[in-house]
Amino acid sequence: MSDAHPGLILIEHPLVRHKLTQLRRRETSTAGFRRILREISLLLAYEATRHLPLAAVDIETPLEPMVAPALSGKKLCFVSILRAGNGILDGMLDLVPAARVGHIGLYRDHATLEAVEYFLKLPDDIGERVVIVVDPMLATGHSAVAAISRLKAAGASQIRFVCLLTVPEGLRAMQAAHPEVPIITAAVDRGLDENGYIRPGLGDAGDRLFGTK
Ligand code: URA
Repeated sequence: MSDAHPGLILIEHPLVRHKLTQLRRRETSTAGFRRILREISLLLAYEATRHLPLAAVDIETPLEPMVAPALSGKKLCFVSILRAGNGILDGMLDLVPAARVGHIGLYRDHATLEAVEYFLKLPDDIGERVVIVVDPMLATGHSAVAAISRLKAAGASQIRFVCLLTVPEGLRAMQAAHPEVPIITAAVDRGLDENGYIRPGLGDAGDRLFGTK
């Protein structure tokens, strides 16, 4: 829980904290960053899916019939905010390979500072799915807020947001716009610098993931 966002879920598992430290290290290579981000995302997905409902089903083990729990009801859709969100997507799909996937691309208009949509592809039945939006860095919150508003306009109603790192500024922005959306993260850092980077952070997640700088 947090003053800045009551729906904050901070994952403090030692494996998550250790892997995040590896991601933060300047010397971690592109290949290492990609692999560790995939691993940590799987652990975040485990938390993000904790609320999924179960129903009892009849099965047979090799020894006898039994009634056993299985996932029921609403199906999942992961929505990646391009491009760094794709680094989280891979780990999530390792855990839930049958989930549907949506993508949303947003850029920042330098004149208005607003997030402008340049790409959107979502499953038709998004309104019937539990939607988990992924982006490694919840910084100013502009992209996350705009992406979630767009998903709501498309009919999504059960939305959760998963990131690796956030800051009080991002949490406040989400709280103001989407207070009912839980945020799952591995750390809340000190704050933003004048360029909108999370400090101490891990740098530009997209560049580190794709080796573009
Ligand atoms: N996006 C990033 O990739 N890094 C930051 O620190 C902030 C936003």
